[in-house]
Amino acid sequence: MDRKRPPCSRPLLGACALLSLATAVLLGHVLLHDLAVMPQEPRGLSRDPEEKLGAHQQGASGPGPRPRPGGAAPTQCDAPPNSRFDCAPDRAITREQCEARGCCYVPVGPPRGSQMGPPWCFFPPSYPSYRLGNLTATDTGYTASLARATPTFFPRDILSLRLDVLLETDSRLHFTIRDPASRRYEVPMETPRVHSRAPSTLYTVEFSEEPFGLVVRRKLDGRVLLNTSVAPLFFADQFLQLSTSLPSQRVTGLAEHLGPLMLNTNWTKITLWNRDLAPTADANLYGSHPFYLVLEDGGLAHGVFLLNSNAMDVVLQPSPALSWRSTGGILDMFVFLGPEPESVVRQYLDIVGRPFMPPYWALGFHLCRWGYSSTAVTRQVVENMTRAGFPLDVQWNDLDYMDARRDFTFNPDGFGDFPAMVEEFHRGGRRYVMIVDPAISSSGPAGSYRPYDEGLRRGVFITNETGQPLIGKVWPGPTAFPDFTNPETLDWWQDMVAEFHAQVPFDGMWIDMNEPSNFVKGSVDGCPDNDLENPPYVPGVVGGTLRAATICASSRQWLSTHYNLHNLYGLTEAQASSRALVKARGTRPFVISRSTFAGHGQYAGHWTGDVESSWEHLSLSVPEILLFNLLGVPLVGADICGFRGSTSEELCVRWTQLGAFYPFMRNHNELQSLPQEPYRFSEPAQQAMRRALTLRYVLLPHLYTLFHGAHTRGDTVARPLFLEFPEDSRTWTVDRQLLWGRALLVTPVLEPGKVEVTGYFPAGTWYDLQAVSAEVLGSLPPAPAGRPAPAIHSEGQWVTLPAPLDTINLHLRAGHIIPLQGPGLTTTESRKQPMALAVALTSGGEAQGELFWDDGESLGALERGAYTQVAFLAGNNTVMNQLVHVDSEGAGLQLRRVVVLGVASAPQQVLSDGAQVSNFTYSPDTQTLDIPVSLMVAQQFLISWS
Ligand SMILES: *[C@@H]1O[C@H](CO)[C@@H](O)[C@H](O)[C@H]1NC(C)=O
Ligand SMILES: *[C@@H]1O[C@H](CO)[C@@H](O)[C@H](O)[C@H]1NC(C)=O
Ligand SMILES: *[C@@H]1O[C@H](CO)[C@@H](O)[C@H](O)[C@H]1NC(C)=O
Ligand SMILES: *[C@@H]1O[C@H](CO)[C@@H](O)[C@H](O)[C@H]1NC(C)=O
Ligand SMILES: *[C@@H]1O[C@H](CO)[C@@H](O)[C@H](O)[C@H]1NC(C)=O
Repeated sequence: MDRKRPPCSRPLLGACALLSLATAVLLGHVLLHDLAVMPQEPRGLSRDPEEKLGAHQQGASGPGPRPRPGGAAPTQCDAPPNSRFDCAPDRAITREQCEARGCCYVPVGPPRGSQMGPPWCFFPPSYPSYRLGNLTATDTGYTASLARATPTFFPRDILSLRLDVLLETDSRLHFTIRDPASRRYEVPMETPRVHSRAPSTLYTVEFSEEPFGLVVRRKLDGRVLLNTSVAPLFFADQFLQLSTSLPSQRVTGLAEHLGPLMLNTNWTKITLWNRDLAPTADANLYGSHPFYLVLEDGGLAHGVFLLNSNAMDVVLQPSPALSWRSTGGILDMFVFLGPEPESVVRQYLDIVGRPFMPPYWALGFHLCRWGYSSTAVTRQVVENMTRAGFPLDVQWNDLDYMDARRDFTFNPDGFGDFPAMVEEFHRGGRRYVMIVDPAISSSGPAGSYRPYDEGLRRGVFITNETGQPLIGKVWPGPTAFPDFTNPETLDWWQDMVAEFHAQVPFDGMWIDMNEPSNFVKGSVDGCPDNDLENPPYVPGVVGGTLRAATICASSRQWLSTHYNLHNLYGLTEAQASSRALVKARGTRPFVISRSTFAGHGQYAGHWTGDVESSWEHLSLSVPEILLFNLLGVPLVGADICGFRGSTSEELCVRWTQLGAFYPFMRNHNELQSLPQEPYRFSEPAQQAMRRALTLRYVLLPHLYTLFHGAHTRGDTVARPLFLEFPEDSRTWTVDRQLLWGRALLVTPVLEPGKVEVTGYFPAGTWYDLQAVSAEVLGSLPPAPAGRPAPAIHSEGQWVTLPAPLDTINLHLRAGHIIPLQGPGLTTTESRKQPMALAVALTSGGEAQGELFWDDGESLGALERGAYTQVAFLAGNNTVMNQLVHVDSEGAGLQLRRVVVLGVASAPQQVLSDGAQVSNFTYSPDTQTLDIPVSLMVAQQFLISWS
């Protein structure tokens, strides 16, 4: 991009209007505050009648630039196809209908089918938009009015709007566009109200007057990050559109969808409307996150969040540009200036909330299946896992436990001793989680089912046109839907959870079907015919109507209509469930939800729904896990071995290896498929899965420490390579590998029949951790024979590695120290084992790392200071710790071994706190120094060698 070009170099017919000089003078001091005013140039030529829309559109040959008398201005319909903005987003229209809208009609390419492409009907630069006026500096930024003289083709334009621009922090800009005359629905999310009056060092804001536009520019390089002048602004009652140019084609975010991490900008429409749908490409899935992150050339990044929960489409086009098209609410936009990608994520989480701190056991292995038909079968699963030597922390049940598939009940046949089973699991050091659906059975006689009777009495259900509970159909048959925006519903839900917990001491909740899913369209009585049910613009939802697979859009909730609140259903249920668990159990809540919205990670984790047992879904799980980490939902995983259809042994082994590196690790499958618990497979397959599970358990102290970083700082846990190495452009599209924090690189096999895998290794030294940890802990099954040299010295290159069926490649990055702990069959056991440190030295002999430790489950441990935090440092042939904070829980942790990688030559002597260590070993082949010690992790120590 030519940065020297004046920002408004096409002064044509008002296409790039200028902030008037009068306003600029008026805003004298604002100018000092980085209000860059576009240079004063002659206003556009007055409109030439010949120039009238459509007047020169002569068919498919397309218009060329037309010489104009006395000037070089191009014609109005000559926008290159990729820079066109669709003037018929709502329906297919003819040339006549298009021109009647005042738009250009120029066909390109093959006739429109289902595929997206450049629009044939598009806005000319002169298409009427809003005009900005009355721009005023305020204490916190600017305010202005926006006025539209000509209505659009959507009903109920709001012709006068108010723009508020808030300069919130050095790295965050916030602007809202609302109707000053009437209060419209806004997402009930509290966002921080901070304002810096100082000009930002990172960005400037510029306005254009007519058509209204807002430009955000990165100060460092002058790059335009946001320019909303590229297309007219729409703000009708049920159609809001804001378009912007993008500075690069590399866009990620906008979950939830199935596909690669980087979105395709070659005409893609992403629809956000939460829906129960087995993951499919190009479809609106379970969650909505209207946030994107753009990687700019050079590796800087910015992000944009539209705080809006209405059904929407986001259109990406190759110019590159993006259009938000929402069906309601207001435009409430946050721009995060980074400048590094990881800062963008932190800045986004400052707004939507940082992830909750999960209990330690949540990081262990979870096992479930739809079809564990009794407590006897469920107990057998746990016994069989234990007998086969597989770690298992949390046993789950699907619908099977319920009586007539109703929440908060258990089936007397088969699950009569349900409470006793859960207590047994507890005695074995394990936890128990069961499914809970939001919809409440409504069909029994009055007095037969307390959750419904109580719910009715307390008025907690979503209501229909006649003010009665809307009735749909879910697993138990006819059901009513709790309205979790109603404070009374929170109390009712909490009572139901507490009463059930008093019978069955479960440890967490798995909230499913909460889009909310409905087996009938809208309700058993259908839906009324009104503007909410049939909006003038229907986003590209699967099924073509908002009520498909859910409840009527016009149904009523406490806070507003379901039309506005639909995308928040899963989030509000997660909030209610988290709160209920805290009250019922008094320890850290554990909630896993299918449906999500921005900010979900503060309350719950997520699993990626009904994935298929296929290699394709195995590999697509990597970008999905990475994406949810960028969105502040780090506790995320896909169903290992796949949920739908039967897995194969090889697929299940590879999936278990990758799944060992999902932050949330659960194997689950459906009723009709072959069983897929690890012990079902051949001995070699079991051996490979045991290795993967053991490896995860050995790494849990590190994983837990990463979650602490996510909770306190907004770090990601599983992270894409570009987040750590943004300046290395080869990392930008890597979504078949993942990092855990900064230190561990996971390179899984994602294809059948492979015994090798190729992965990208950013510049530096990467040590093969499996070779090491087997030596260190002696508890891993032996490393496969014939492995290559245990370190890769990369200049930033693709490396092909051996990957026999029993191996997942795992590399520790030079410069990092990670804590390891002897594994166990549960975290209750593994937490009592001694620890070890893996120290990966840089060529300069340095490394660092940390450990966060607490009792793993109590509430407010951080606030009470009931935790231990230790930093580890290596340099100058020493390894030492620094005690940041120590409590009794951490004081007992033993340190038995320190393995130093990258020690160039055999030391003569090794000292631990000044005492000779006689039994150290050194391997010249692997340059590994293995030091047995007898120390405490949380007491100061110094180990040295010379
Ligand atoms: C913003 O977009 C408009 C319309 O495409 C263009 O005329 C203008 O030059 C752009 N402004 C900047 C600062 O790039
Ligand atoms: C500026 O404010 C005046 C008075 O409220 C209003 O009449 C006018 O339309 C506003 N100008 C614009 C461009 O909105
Ligand atoms: C974009 O998609 C069109 C139609 O599928 C295709 O012809 C074109 O080559 C694509 N462009 C790029 C840059 O991928
Ligand atoms: C557990 O293992 C036993 C013995 O192999 C087997 O008979 C039983 O079917 C298994 N049960 C389950 C639920 O896996
Ligand atoms: C509203 O729901 C009730 C059941 O709660 C039903 O009897 C009534 O017909 C519904 N009203 C409409 C307009 O569908």
